[in-house]
Amino acid sequence: MGSETWFPTRLVGERVTLRRHVPTNIDAFRRWYADPAVARLTRYQDGPMRPLEIERFFMSRVVGPDSLALAIHLRETGRLIGTCAFSQMDGDNGSALYHITIGETDAWGHGYGTEATRLMLGHAFDTLHLHRVALSVFEFNERAIRAYRRCGFRVEGRAREAIWRDSRRWDEITMSILAHEWAALRVAERPADRAGTPARVGSPATMVD
Ligand SMILES: CC(C)(COP(=O)(O)OP(=O)(O)OC[C@H]1O[C@@H](n2cnc3c(N)ncnc32)[C@H](O)[C@@H]1OP(=O)(O)O)[C@@H](O)C(=O)NCCC(=O)NCCS
Repeated sequence: MGSETWFPTRLVGERVTLRRHVPTNIDAFRRWYADPAVARLTRYQDGPMRPLEIERFFMSRVVGPDSLALAIHLRETGRLIGTCAFSQMDGDNGSALYHITIGETDAWGHGYGTEATRLMLGHAFDTLHLHRVALSVFEFNERAIRAYRRCGFRVEGRAREAIWRDSRRWDEITMSILAHEWAALRVAERPADRAGTPARVGSPATMVD
């Protein structure tokens, strides 16, 4: 499999486009990960990342040669709103971990996260032929859990009371989706008049180069 397939330049949906990150996106990361509202939902540690941590994270996990991270842009305006990625790509077992952060808080709740996640799942299952994609999410992150469920993720476990936040303990929830579940969703959402042709799950994923 060519590296362009493994790590696409671009995945195009109806309202968002996922593109490779460019070095100047570091400025957005500095803002996003210094925001306590983003940190509350994404960090095990209490409080936002320090500037040096953000830089290290960006260099190693976002633009590093082995990362499969893509920037989330609004298709109409090109605005950069967030980032999504696979980590722990395991070719032997066909599995990966999924991560997403929409750092621009005014872009939350508009369906962009659901669409970006579906594009990434389409790539994982339809192009890379992975068997399983998993993620973990804090129990109080209801928006994320709803978006993940809508994409087909199911709860598979809980690390009980693993997170201390807002003066109480919460579970960390593990969710996953398997290849056959993704395929079944595609069939279920296929318009009747297009039976026999590849289905769309919410948004068409087009890989460019
Ligand atoms: C989690 C995240 C990716 C979701 O993307 P999004 O574009 O905001 O979410 P969507 O609009 O696609 O879907 C949100 C769902 O939650 C619902 N929702 C919206 N606001 C909500 C809220 N305050 N509380 C509970 N549910 C909410 C929506 O109705 C929708 O559910 P539905 O499709 O069943 O109607 C995004 O909000 C984000 O990056 N947040 C900050 C970082 C984060 O939490 N990352 C995930 C860590 S595991």
